[in-house]
Amino acid sequence: MARVKRNPMRGGNKFKLGVFGANADGCLSITRHPDRWMADWDDVLAAAQMSDRAGLDFFLPLARWKGFGGETNARHISYETFTFAAALSGLTEQIALFATVHTLIVPPVYAAKALVTLDHASHGRAGLNMVCGWNQPEFDMFGLTKPDQVYDQGREWFEILRRTLAGDAAFDFKGEFFDLKGVEGAPGPVQQPHPVTLSAAFSPPGRDFAAGSCDCIFTTFTTYDDAKVTIADFQSRVDKAGRQAGIFAPVHVVCRPTEQEARDYYQDYAVTRTDDAAVDQHMAMKKNMSGSHDPAAYDLYRKRFAGGAGSYPLIGTPEQIAEEMIGLNNLGFGGLAMSFVNPKYELPWFLDRLLPLLEKAGLRI
Ligand SMILES: Cc1cc2nc3c(=O)[nH]c(=O)nc-3n(C[C@H](O)[C@H](O)[C@H](O)COP(=O)(O)O)c2cc1C
Repeated sequence: MARVKRNPMRGGNKFKLGVFGANADGCLSITRHPDRWMADWDDVLAAAQMSDRAGLDFFLPLARWKGFGGETNARHISYETFTFAAALSGLTEQIALFATVHTLIVPPVYAAKALVTLDHASHGRAGLNMVCGWNQPEFDMFGLTKPDQVYDQGREWFEILRRTLAGDAAFDFKGEFFDLKGVEGAPGPVQQPHPVTLSAAFSPPGRDFAAGSCDCIFTTFTTYDDAKVTIADFQSRVDKAGRQAGIFAPVHVVCRPTEQEARDYYQDYAVTRTDDAAVDQHMAMKKNMSGSHDPAAYDLYRKRFAGGAGSYPLIGTPEQIAEEMIGLNNLGFGGLAMSFVNPKYELPWFLDRLLPLLEKAGLRI
């Protein structure tokens, strides 16, 4: 396997692009459409290799343990993300491979060891996406209760992970959530001081956690106007922390030769052939247990929840989608994590047309 010089997340593309959610059925969509992604391993591998060959920057799985019910029980199929990324590391050449980790479920010393393994196996392409919330029924599977202050737990978790990766000397840690003795870890990671980190969050405490600890926040928006507010708010927290951190967002994509074709397909999979009961449950759970969206988003954008778990839709021709990406980059987004109804079907044509447009616009090299 060729050795990359550096993780593409730290590379020269001004606007980073990756695929989100291919480790789970539907990716981010909730649909009964026959194109629905079933996360069959060979399809996942094909999508990862297409993304890698096309020069996308990252492949980002979601962390899921339970389905959302309904006819499809959306997301009941999913792969664990450290082993997922490690399995792909020997079968790809340059793309960054993230693990998405519930800080409540995975002990930090174990996560440090798994992350280091991934970083070595991929020659420095590992990434860590931390998820500090949100879904109590999933935590019930582990006999865990979500603490009130999830980001206080996340901060301790990340501190332990960081110190384990630094590996200087064995250490004890006593905090509110962890009481650990004689922690050590070797080898250290290829990426120093640690692999690229994201935190998936929206709330003010989540923004503070990402601003104080992570390379990027991975967050949602519903309109350009609220994205501006979110970006300014996050930047002020980053400035206050005296650090630098980027901002990424999830999107769902339908790209076709004409806008009408793209809109028709979107309407078909996210309205006509959605799984209403699963959408209801997904929205209700998110509303109750997470602040990951602006409250108005739930009522206004049901189609977006069916289409892509409440993420922003990019629906149209390659030129229209490139324009939107340029606009989002101008707002301050450093990158997008893209979901598709079926990445294997969608990626080849889409990337072939989109990437040259972004290169021409100076967003990618
Ligand atoms: C863009 C984005 C992606 C997320 N991905 C996941 C995921 O894969 N698995 C999960 O359990 N939670 C995920 N979450 C939930 C968050 O990690 C977090 O627990 C939740 O948003 C509640 O925290 P908040 O109030 O700060 O947003 C995601 C949130 C956002 C904003």
